[in-house]
Amino acid sequence: MNEQEPGPVVDLRLDRAHSSRIYDYFLGGKTNFLADRMAAGQVLGVFPAALVAARINREFMHRATRFLAASGLRQFLDIGTGIPTPPNLHDIAQDIAPDARVVYTDNDPIVLAHAAALLLSTPEGRTAYLQADVTDPTGILTAPQLLDTLDLSRPVALSLNALMHFVPDDGQRRAHTIVETLKAALPSGSALVMSHATADFTPEAMRKIIKIYGDAGTRLQLRSRAEFLRFFDGWELLEPGVALSHQWRPDRPEDATHVTDAEAACYAGIARKP
Ligand SMILES: C[S@@+](CC[C@H](N)C(=O)[O-])C[C@H]1O[C@@H](n2cnc3c(N)ncnc32)[C@H](O)[C@@H]1O
Repeated sequence: MNEQEPGPVVDLRLDRAHSSRIYDYFLGGKTNFLADRMAAGQVLGVFPAALVAARINREFMHRATRFLAASGLRQFLDIGTGIPTPPNLHDIAQDIAPDARVVYTDNDPIVLAHAAALLLSTPEGRTAYLQADVTDPTGILTAPQLLDTLDLSRPVALSLNALMHFVPDDGQRRAHTIVETLKAALPSGSALVMSHATADFTPEAMRKIIKIYGDAGTRLQLRSRAEFLRFFDGWELLEPGVALSHQWRPDRPEDATHVTDAEAACYAGIARKP
């Protein structure tokens, strides 16, 4: 594009609640608008623990990234990145491994609008941002931004945190098939990091939350523990296996008990490709 020309006009639909901005509100961010705050208020009305659930989900991403960088992974593909909320994944990975390379992907144009915060790489490492939808995994895997940044013949940590519950199973479009396509493109030694909301503990509140998001135009499909476990099929789950997000290798033992399973409402796990 000619530098003199303005970029394409993107309608951020500030009049409608968006999942990324609702999550930003729960995390205490500032990139949210009236429609997002109203939807977030409705969610909190039926599930006051949403603030805690969002925070401990984010903390799972911190611990998972630290763990994988410390165990030698140097390439990260994070899909459903969300609005930047420091520390972001590359801040954590490059703190441990300055040469770490990170590709961020989200389908929400507002995340793209804030992508500059995700691109402040160390000089030794590299970060890139790709606006794309996880329902087109092949498009992600073949995008120039990804191929210029990651070497898919070497292990990659694939993060799908708090993402796949936004992908309902629809005809040919099945969440598990999408994840299998992504997994198949990665070599041995790669890791899958996932968290996913569940209605296993508070079905009535979650039914209402599905309606609130649905009214805002976002379909949610919460999944059971067994359905979550299936995302890792064929890969080796690391200890402690599937856990509630705050119970996956907590930094301190008391962190595993300070909220209930019902408040966490999100499963988490990491597996390695054999
Ligand atoms: C709840 S946020 C999670 C952010 C971050 N991964 C975390 O766990 O802290 C979910 C993000 O997924 C994005 N998202 C939802 N559906 C998506 C899709 N089909 N493709 C790509 N991104 C999607 C949303 O725009 C939002 O930014």
